[in-house]
Amino acid sequence: MTTREENELMCRVGPGTPGGKMMRRYWLPVALSEDLPRGSRPVPVTLLGEQLVLFRDEQGRPGLLQRACPHRCTDLSYGRIEDGGLRCLYHGWLFDVAGNCMEQPGEPPESTYKDEVKARSYPLVEKAGMIFGYLGQDAPPEFPDWEFLNASDEHRCLLRSHIACNWLQALEGNIDPVHLSYLHRPLKQVDTRPVPGSEKSADQFYGDDRRPNLDLEQTDYGIRIYSIRRAPEDKQYVRITNFIMPCQAAIVGNEGRVNEGYSVHWHVPIDDYNNMRFDFVFNRVRPVDKEKYRKRLGNLTGPDGVTKRSLENRYFQDPVAMQTENFTGMGGSFNIHDAAATESMGPISDRTQEHLATSDRIIVRARRQVLEAIADVAEGREPRGVIRDPAGRDRSHVVVMSEVIPHDVDPKEHWKTRVHRCQAAE
Ligand code: FES
Ligand SMILES: [Fe+2]
Repeated sequence: MTTREENELMCRVGPGTPGGKMMRRYWLPVALSEDLPRGSRPVPVTLLGEQLVLFRDEQGRPGLLQRACPHRCTDLSYGRIEDGGLRCLYHGWLFDVAGNCMEQPGEPPESTYKDEVKARSYPLVEKAGMIFGYLGQDAPPEFPDWEFLNASDEHRCLLRSHIACNWLQALEGNIDPVHLSYLHRPLKQVDTRPVPGSEKSADQFYGDDRRPNLDLEQTDYGIRIYSIRRAPEDKQYVRITNFIMPCQAAIVGNEGRVNEGYSVHWHVPIDDYNNMRFDFVFNRVRPVDKEKYRKRLGNLTGPDGVTKRSLENRYFQDPVAMQTENFTGMGGSFNIHDAAATESMGPISDRTQEHLATSDRIIVRARRQVLEAIADVAEGREPRGVIRDPAGRDRSHVVVMSEVIPHDVDPKEHWKTRVHRCQAAE
């Protein structure tokens, strides 16, 4: 059982909180590169309860600064991109991407006061169409060398959407293999693409065996999750997914159903009551149909990433569709199903009211890892998944699998044959 104290520790991520200090040990997605093309206006961003401004200077360098101008707190996201930085509208103070104050044009010419003023700034890394930030106070850790970040542009698709609840309950939906057989069950339009090693599709497996066997391994990045369903001819349908500390999951997704790639979801806390879901979809075998993904999400959300089906309109749940279309009656999008399941728990789920069962063992272990990481940070240790030694950047042991294999093959050995060595990162 999760106590009230543990729940508070895990869910509160503002500056100075134990959970916030833990989150600030990791590189986290801040935005998609396409949100910030060259020449674009600065973007107000809220991350871990901090009001920030994201901008790109004239040289194309991204910067992430405190949003309130250090002079008299005007919102810098209304500022001007010019002269090598971001200029505040109010009195023209100019800041570069590192937060240095380069000009205070209203001060006496001999003043050196600008050298004493700095905007709080955070380091960024831009990779594979995503902008990652490190909100810790010290030197950032090594950047993990994930396979998917080496996918070329046509083999990847990046999306984001706003989820109106605490990050942890949203994340937990990704590491819960059992809900696939319920929440996302189609009644009509079943995906018929066969899983490698079988003639049945993933949808058919999820529908036919609604009580998967779960197993797990603790790893240096989080948890390798095994869910195993019955398959014909004395075989097993093995699905391997991953919890990646602190708020990330590598799951099967659409490309993974045929074992050609997978999806990665981050649930980055905006504040304690909202999170931004970043999706990284990749296929190592063939190009990803970006238009399909974008159209699908575009139909679901507005430009701010907020879903049109929402808690306020009860996700337009249709009782007829519940009988004819799918389990939820909320349309075919997994995003909406997941939002309904997790947002309806309330802004922060009261975990003291839960009745955790055998099928929740992955969730239980993930919470334990989060709490361990919070304790590690509080006691001065690096938490699980933070890489300080450059030799430890390799993350090719993050394997996602959707495959039917003989019954006598051990999935805990089989995944090793499915490692894709990372190329040198971009
Ligand atoms: S408040 Fe920004 S320059 Fe004065
Ligand atoms: Fe889901």
